Amino acid sequence: MIFDAPDFDAHEAVHFAQDAATGLNAIIVLHSTHLGPAAGGCRWWTYADDAAALTDALRLSRGMSYKNAMAGLPMGGGKAVIMKGAAKTEAMLEAFGGVIDSLGGRYVTAEDVGMSDADMTVISRRTKHVSGLPVAGGAAGGNPGPSTAEGVFVGMRAAVAHKLGRHDFAGVHVAIQGLGSVGGALAEKLAVAGAVLTLADIDDSRARAFAARLGATAVPVGDITGVAADVFSPNALGAVLDASTIAGLKVAVVAGAANNQLATPTDGERLAARGILYAPDYVINAGGIINVVAEYLGHGDAASVAQSIARIEGRLHDIFAEAERSGRPTDAVADSMARALIGR
Ligand code: NAI
Repeated sequence: MIFDAPDFDAHEAVHFAQDAATGLNAIIVLHSTHLGPAAGGCRWWTYADDAAALTDALRLSRGMSYKNAMAGLPMGGGKAVIMKGAAKTEAMLEAFGGVIDSLGGRYVTAEDVGMSDADMTVISRRTKHVSGLPVAGGAAGGNPGPSTAEGVFVGMRAAVAHKLGRHDFAGVHVAIQGLGSVGGALAEKLAVAGAVLTLADIDDSRARAFAARLGATAVPVGDITGVAADVFSPNALGAVLDASTIAGLKVAVVAGAANNQLATPTDGERLAARGILYAPDYVINAGGIINVVAEYLGHGDAASVAQSIARIEGRLHDIFAEAERSGRPTDAVADSMARALIGR
């Protein structure tokens, strides 16, 4: 029974949509619309069965409620999953757009794993409740990576100040895992700010190219979590922080953009027990969603987006202070703050 499912958290609505003509099998979940329309991307993915798809949507939509609330956005949390099966045709995406439109704006979609900005354009033929469309120029829209990197940069500054008493990055040693759209932009910013960088990417040549350009050191991908540094910054995969990697960390701070960095909630406690300050992922990586929502709401001038991203620094200071006061892990503190904001 769905109401007893471990990941069910009084979600406001769960919509199952099937379109026989196009092979669409989708689940759209609205966790909370307390702060505004439920916003969150659509994932195109292979699931073992319907229950696995539902679990993913329940979990991800709650995560979006927390993320949007902590980013100070007037948006709730939702998520859609389309179960991979039939080919992803334009007709299927249009059918999906029709389902979103039938919700009357209570759910706003965007890209997630397996969906592109071109797919969003097809969906937009049937509904206006879609963001993340390709944008030529402008402050908002387009690739959110640089905005996310800016948020991680200011958020890492808060962590370094809190934990190390350092107010700039001069000489601060940061080990970066993943040099993609976010990690690459972050490495550039940190290099300009005078940080000492150790870099790794599964694409070794990419790490070496960045290292050569930024005067940094590249290490094999398997070594990056064990580098002795001030900060470990995960910008590649989720679930990178588990019992084994946490035991091997030689840093004081973990601060990076990757989603769902903690393999399990216990891993937040493990980090705290080791005295490692963890910047909760959905708080520090909100720069991209701030940019995307500005585009959707049409509030996308560069200055207001930048101000909104800058507030990530103060928000993390608040979380770190409360964690210290209460003796609770930072991720648990962030979850409580987010739940209070959405009236739970
Ligand atoms: P990306 O796909 O542009 O870059 C990922 C990079 O990590 C690639 O260079 C890839 O070669 C590398 N990589 C993959 N597996 C690796 C491994 N095992 N070890 C080391 N490097 C590995 O992705 P992007 O956009 O930079 O996102 C990075 C992370 O941040 C993801 O977890 C993403 O979900 C998260 N995120 C991204 C946002 C954005 O605005 N792009 C917003 C919020 C979160």
